[in-house]
Amino acid sequence: MKIPPKWLIGNWKMHKTRAEAIQFVKEILPKATHSLDEIGLAVPFTCIAELAKESLQSPLEIGCQNIYSKDQGAFTGEISAEMALEAGASFTLVGHSERRALFNETNEFINSKVLHAVSKKLKVVLCIGETELERSSGRAYEVLSKQISEGLKKVSSKEMEKVSIAYEPVWAIGSGVAASPEVAEECHRFCRSVIEELYSHDVGQRVKILYGGSVQPENINKFLEKVEINGVLIGKASLSSPAFAKIIDFRNPESHGNKAT
Ligand code: PGA
Repeated sequence: MKIPPKWLIGNWKMHKTRAEAIQFVKEILPKATHSLDEIGLAVPFTCIAELAKESLQSPLEIGCQNIYSKDQGAFTGEISAEMALEAGASFTLVGHSERRALFNETNEFINSKVLHAVSKKLKVVLCIGETELERSSGRAYEVLSKQISEGLKKVSSKEMEKVSIAYEPVWAIGSGVAASPEVAEECHRFCRSVIEELYSHDVGQRVKILYGGSVQPENINKFLEKVEINGVLIGKASLSSPAFAKIIDFRNPESHGNKAT
């Protein structure tokens, strides 16, 4: 089976100084340059401009981990989509489970950020996912459906061209215990059906849905073999350049000891 291009995004969270970030990018750039896939790094705000410069002329895209929903104003500590774009970011994450849990971000607030990003043509990855309790009490699909429909409220079909979804079960993030590729596939299929219902079959088929939660070089192929899984969002394993280089190299059986095609 030939694997179509995937989107591989590293999410550095609050890690790396500028010097560390530049060193990292220099180390992975040779692999990223020859990749058949889209490679992205969601980095701290302080690193965007320099890394965007460093990765010019390469397929590596630099993104941010969060934005605010307004153009400008008295919003201490925030940045706008335009500021992110000007610094060289081509995408942003929004609604990551850490933002939801630690900073009390609601679906409504996250929706305002999605609307702001697409209005400025900044690509946006809307992160969703259920907690362990929500899963064990049989409410996972209800939660995902709500996160999608409220997160995408008033986003038009046209604007959906700029939107991707990252399905990240909260219990799998940073735990070392990934969802099984079968569970991930099933959830992706469900999320796609919600989008088809909200928009159309075409929009649902086109939207990229990434899996995130304890993806590592050792298990990445099992996810990316699934047709429903259009990419991955990777936290911990994106912090080490050798590990991230292996992730980029997932199609090379020698790098992984298992076959990618
Ligand atoms: P993890 O994080 O790969 O360390 O589980 C994923 C994420 O938070 O996006």
